[in-house]
Amino acid sequence: MNSFTLPNGVSMPQLALGTWLIPDNQAADTVRHAILVGYRHIDTAQAYENERGVGEGVRSAGINRNDIFITSKVAAEIKDYDLAAKSIDCSLQLLQVDFIDLMLIHCPQPWAEYEKNPYRYQKENQAVWRAMEEAMQAGKLRAIGISNFNQSDIESLMQTAQIKPMVNQIYCHIGHTPLELINYCHKNGIITEAYSPVAHGRALSNQEIATMAEKYGVSIAQLCIRYCLQLGMVALPKSTNPEHIRQNAKVDFVISDEDMKLLMQLAD
Ligand code: A2P
Repeated sequence: MNSFTLPNGVSMPQLALGTWLIPDNQAADTVRHAILVGYRHIDTAQAYENERGVGEGVRSAGINRNDIFITSKVAAEIKDYDLAAKSIDCSLQLLQVDFIDLMLIHCPQPWAEYEKNPYRYQKENQAVWRAMEEAMQAGKLRAIGISNFNQSDIESLMQTAQIKPMVNQIYCHIGHTPLELINYCHKNGIITEAYSPVAHGRALSNQEIATMAEKYGVSIAQLCIRYCLQLGMVALPKSTNPEHIRQNAKVDFVISDEDMKLLMQLAD
């Protein structure tokens, strides 16, 4: 499995298991299975309420902790230095780990206001970022980043950041490819990650994607995941089905440049 190297030398596997909507009592089994079939990167969040189960899955898989990359996220509603610092300690406790490999600000705005309120919480995100920088300096986090940030959110964070965000996790799939933001991030040394690469499952019923998958002799989900990898992104497919999890890790085929262009033009 390919890995990216973050600016501070930390290695991050390019394929991760997404765990959004996986209940805490199912997370351990799902994560353990994913690790057994080759995943080395697990993506969770405080908001998913499954950090405990994810931690149990990682510990019980019988792989050295240092060989597994765990991402979590400070809840979108936390927009204050003290609460952010406390929430990081809480994530460490729930996961039962000494460090988290990557911590992200889940969203520039609380979810209830996301893309509805013109106020983008610039000052508040700067305060949350400071708490994350300090946790990183204390060895609690190995790397820090953001999620769902647009270019201006990133620029305002950078005004006070001592450590540049290393990753931006964004919504990206065939039919919804925010190329301008991806290019901006890559130009600025920020690795992008695609969440919901299968469009929450909607891609599975798209005839154009199905035809292209058939051409390559792969499943629709595999084509969707490979598409994000070839955009130079980390892909975070979510699944609780053991066979899907196994299949989603087998993506070492190559989509031609011509077909990548076609897929980039598909509408949602
Ligand atoms: P399941 O959990 O049954 O595998 P996304 O990652 O874009 O949010 O998509 C998640 C959805 O895609 C889930 O409903 C998941 O269902 C489904 N899915 C993921 N991988 C596959 C696969 N290989 N084949 C079929 N469905 C899949």
